[in-house]
Amino acid sequence: MFKLTIGATKLQNMDYQPMTSSDNYSHLSQNPLWNQAIRAAIKERLELEKGDACLMATRAGLTPDRWQSDLLRSDAKQMILNCSRQSGKSTISAVLAVHEAIYAPGSLTLLLAPSLRQSTELFRKVKDIFVALQSPYTPQIIEESNLRLELNNDSRIISLPGTEQTVRGFSSVGLLVVDEAAVCDDALFYAIKPMLAISNGRIILLSTPRGRRGFFYDVWEGGADDWHRTRITAQECPRISPEWLENEKRTMPAFWFKQELECEFTETLDSVFSFDDIEAAISSDITPLFPKEQSSL
Ligand SMILES: Nc1ncnc2c1ncn2[C@@H]1O[C@H](COP(=O)(O)OP(=O)(O)OP(=O)(O)O)[C@@H](O)[C@H]1O
Ligand SMILES: [Mg+2]
Repeated sequence: MFKLTIGATKLQNMDYQPMTSSDNYSHLSQNPLWNQAIRAAIKERLELEKGDACLMATRAGLTPDRWQSDLLRSDAKQMILNCSRQSGKSTISAVLAVHEAIYAPGSLTLLLAPSLRQSTELFRKVKDIFVALQSPYTPQIIEESNLRLELNNDSRIISLPGTEQTVRGFSSVGLLVVDEAAVCDDALFYAIKPMLAISNGRIILLSTPRGRRGFFYDVWEGGADDWHRTRITAQECPRISPEWLENEKRTMPAFWFKQELECEFTETLDSVFSFDDIEAAISSDITPLFPKEQSSL
């Protein structure tokens, strides 16, 4: 029996048997030497994929954009993607989720998004990528639902609508993906951060900006240097044509175009004063009328 080692000790003695359908044996022949060579090649390929998620993405049929490759190859623990609509941020996060589940046996990946619909959508991308990669020599699904995938290497991917209440109770998270992070509540962010403390896991925040407020904006603007930042405008996305963009620019409100397609943190629609005006009005050169201890504020 061919034994494939793809991860921690738990899997080292696991037999990767082809599934029962006879089609899955089609790469094998009657010649044992040929079979040995095929299996050695598969094993080598999977070892390479373990160290390079780009290779896995390619096998799933996706050719990552340059920035997507950088992300897949980054070993940063904290990543923030401030990217245009339709640039491919959910897709690439889904690839990372599948890579974690396959190549980190026993891992827990949580996918969070502001609503159930968005969580389901992200989970569907994960499932599509997983199915595209299905092989007799990689972990198999043992349980699945609309929002959950469990593999026979003990890894789980769970997608949840991201509220503080839904995420409490999970621990030892290996990878935490927060899609549409600019629309998620701050309470969610503060609830999820401790989940990574023990597991030393990774977090990815991805979004298009939504005004100058909230944890996504705070991390992007003020987060420490240990956040890996990626900013991709629509102009930089090879699948968005300049003609389409030109037309959108003419027909969309300017602030919306800047926010949705140029990744700028514009004012929220209901702002009375602009952020820049408020910042400009604050000066440390002026002595307060009332010293701090006398002020009721
Ligand atoms: N490297 C790639 N090659 C080909 N197609 C890609 C690539 N990356 C993403 N796509 C495709 O681009 C489309 C948008 O991708 P995705 O949904 O991941 O973008 P997004 O940035 O999350 O969009 P939104 O802001 O609407 O949520 C999808 O059809 C996806 O399959
Ligand atoms: Mg998306």
